[in-house]
Amino acid sequence: MSGPADGGAVITGAGRGLGREIALRLGRRGWFVHVTDADGALAAAVAGEVQADGGTATSSQVDVRDPDACRVAARATASEAGGLGLWINNAGVLRSGPVWEHTDAERRLLMEVNAVGTMHGTIAALEVMRPAHRGHIINVASPAGLVPVPGEGVYAASKHAVMGFSTSALCDLRVAGERNIHVSCVCPDGMWTPMLFDKLRDPVAAMSFSGKLFQPEEIANLVLRVVARPRPVTAAPTWRGLQVRLFDLAPALAVRAAPWVVRIARRQQAAIARKLAP
Ligand SMILES: NC(=O)c1ccc[n+]([C@@H]2O[C@H](COP(=O)([O-])OP(=O)(O)OC[C@H]3O[C@@H](n4cnc5c(N)ncnc54)[C@H](O)[C@@H]3O)[C@@H](O)[C@H]2O)c1
Repeated sequence: MSGPADGGAVITGAGRGLGREIALRLGRRGWFVHVTDADGALAAAVAGEVQADGGTATSSQVDVRDPDACRVAARATASEAGGLGLWINNAGVLRSGPVWEHTDAERRLLMEVNAVGTMHGTIAALEVMRPAHRGHIINVASPAGLVPVPGEGVYAASKHAVMGFSTSALCDLRVAGERNIHVSCVCPDGMWTPMLFDKLRDPVAAMSFSGKLFQPEEIANLVLRVVARPRPVTAAPTWRGLQVRLFDLAPALAVRAAPWVVRIARRQQAAIARKLAP
């Protein structure tokens, strides 16, 4: 387990949503927080909030599609905070629609930000953590990284890539004898963040509303528990992790059940829409 004494924490995509909530909590726990986002102004505003809350923070504009920008953030944090204790790959984008309806550019964007961006961040962090033989990388995935998701197939592909890469990276570390560098994946169900604000009335995105809809604060608290207790995979809620793994055990069943699952999800989405914005 890493703590503030091991160095600073970098969070990607922390200008709003889940990343912002994680930044605020890490600041309160005494971490030096490096808030990064593709939108530098959003990142700076969140770093200001961490400071106003009594924490220590800096910010920079980092587009996770740029591996060198990730490296610069990792090294800058290590030199300012005396090490790099934590790197959280949180940046992500969502587009919904049947897989044939995404444009070429959308497909590339989702894979480059969610999947390749997570790889860039992980590698940048490992370049600093491996010489120190310490550190923790947390990758924000999704149940969409564990199971097929009708209406969000490209997003699911990108999150499956996150899961495969992260758990394999952890195995690589153990095979190499690194016992004190951890890679944890967190798979939260839907979260009420700007990512979903325009999806509430889009039936194609119903699967994002098919389980429990969390507030980002709840998942940020969960991430803080994973910071304290690294685990290869944490799904939230736990029942959702079990449910999607059952579908994963029986792919033919998952396919057969898809129209029925989507019908239920759309009813649930409509109910949430009535509750949130009657
Ligand atoms: N909201 C959900 O329902 C949900 C569910 C499961 C997992 N997730 C995952 O949680 C993470 C956080 O999502 P959120 O819900 O807070 O979304 P959000 O849209 O509120 O925030 C995402 C942040 O990522 C930033 N970002 C986008 N592209 C970037 C890039 N190329 N480089 C750096 N930053 C970039 C955005 O500027 C934004 O600040 C994502 O990985 C998302 O896939 C979200």
